[in-house]
Amino acid sequence: MEKNESNNLAKTYCDCLVVLDDDNRFFYSKLRTSFGAVLVYGDHRVYISDGRYEYFLKSHLMGWEIVCTNGAQLFDTIAKECAKRGVARLGFENATILKTQYDGLIKSLSTAIPTGCTLVPCSDKIRDEKSIKNAEMIECTAEAQRIAEETLAKVIPLIKIGITEREIAARIEYEMILLGAETKSFDTIVAFGENSAKPHHAPSYRKFAKGDIVLVDMGCKFGGYCSDMTRTFFLSESDNQELITIHGVVTEAQKYAIKNTRPGMTCGEVDAMCREYIKSNGYEKEFSHGTGHGVGIAVHEYPRVGAGSEDILKEGMIITIEPGIYVQGLGGVRMEDMVVVTHDGVRNFTKFSKNLYSK
Ligand code: CO
Repeated sequence: MEKNESNNLAKTYCDCLVVLDDDNRFFYSKLRTSFGAVLVYGDHRVYISDGRYEYFLKSHLMGWEIVCTNGAQLFDTIAKECAKRGVARLGFENATILKTQYDGLIKSLSTAIPTGCTLVPCSDKIRDEKSIKNAEMIECTAEAQRIAEETLAKVIPLIKIGITEREIAARIEYEMILLGAETKSFDTIVAFGENSAKPHHAPSYRKFAKGDIVLVDMGCKFGGYCSDMTRTFFLSESDNQELITIHGVVTEAQKYAIKNTRPGMTCGEVDAMCREYIKSNGYEKEFSHGTGHGVGIAVHEYPRVGAGSEDILKEGMIITIEPGIYVQGLGGVRMEDMVVVTHDGVRNFTKFSKNLYSK
């Protein structure tokens, strides 16, 4: 994170920002804890947590003030820290705060600051700030993607007649960790044959059979940042002409969109590039989801790359481009790459083959 950006955020919209959401606390501190709050107060940073994390936070957050609740309520401690600094406008995460947290915060603030403290909605500002990735975040994402690709290359040879979708999904998640991932980005999707027509199929006991198409949607985290990739392929020669055609349409739609995505476009325009191409090939109704999404600390983040999205693409945003065509009873094809928007186009993190046949 660029320190100046959040300083600006806290100064422009409020005197101080209180960050409660787990992913947002990670965004500001680069540390994971299960309990606490981050205060962004001008150039000053405060991490409020309890005794379990005191040593951990003190040893990792140089220049931060670490405040231990010492058994007090979290919101009382937050309010006390705000009172100490004369905060009159406190930014908060209006989109993610729980009702109980909101009530607790109001109550504690009214006790600690009798002169009053206004709560200022800041979720959109945090969301915008998180959507622009710096060099370090981009390299973490690239590494997460590299690990995912090494994993898929290792696991494809294990797909044999009789093995289940669940076994392949489990193997992918295991290999990603062994190859250096922190964890998976989301539950891995493995779909054989007709199951590939369900865009978010949960891996089942369905066994791989000769001639089945294979869809794998997978990702892992590195340095706190997610990767996300989908590949659809046959293991051996297929005579399924419709799926072969669909594979070609989806791959071409995706290549066209990736080639023509630029900063300044709306995400709706990126979606339209895939959608128009697929429509012109007669599969409009079978493309039943948006073209993509932002990726970061969470696998689904701002912006929304879907039909009609007015979100503007900016340099440093990481998005997926993942058109798909799904024919119920037959099967489906999705191709998903993850790209970062550059000054004049995109850099594609995803290098894995899009060939119809995996070998
Ligand atoms: Co995705």
